Amino acid sequence: MFDVEGFVAQCQAAIAEVEPRRAIRQVLDRALADRSAMADALKPEEGGLNTLHRADDLTVLHVVWAPKMKLLPHDHRMWAAIGIYTGQEDNAFFRRIAPGTAPIVASGGKRLAEGDSVLLGDDTIHAVTNPLRQLTGAIHVYGGDFFTQPRSQWPADLSEESPHDVEFTRRQFAEANAAWRASQ
Ligand SMILES: [Fe+2]
Repeated sequence: MFDVEGFVAQCQAAIAEVEPRRAIRQVLDRALADRSAMADALKPEEGGLNTLHRADDLTVLHVVWAPKMKLLPHDHRMWAAIGIYTGQEDNAFFRRIAPGTAPIVASGGKRLAEGDSVLLGDDTIHAVTNPLRQLTGAIHVYGGDFFTQPRSQWPADLSEESPHDVEFTRRQFAEANAAWRASQ
């Protein structure tokens, strides 16, 4: 059985360790060893960002990507750990041409399949795609308050950096859910 409260408690203990990122990843990997239990507890039904825990030093999200959904490039300005319990999440990475400056350029990618986890650094800029015709379910853990941290987002053509807007992100999920339902 996957217990959300117990998982959050393990994350809270992990961020107090000497190497919090590594400890968080170990917590995630232990949970991912029983992915069907995670799916049973988290019950992904549509794309969305669901907050499991939010504090100044730790945010735990249940993230569900709608089929074929693309999330535009953005940064977090805090470390992140991602674990996929069902489906697949394709990450495209970007980097600033010089530190602290705009614009950004494409800088490789990483395909995360079911059971995979990854750590992202404070300065990571990424766009996310669910390439599948099914929901992708993931746990994202962040080393700060995901919702109040000032950060940036970019349009698909990377032309302009603008302040990140959580409502814009939520609209991307709503539009992806609508497109998915229309295709069924
Ligand atoms: Fe992200």
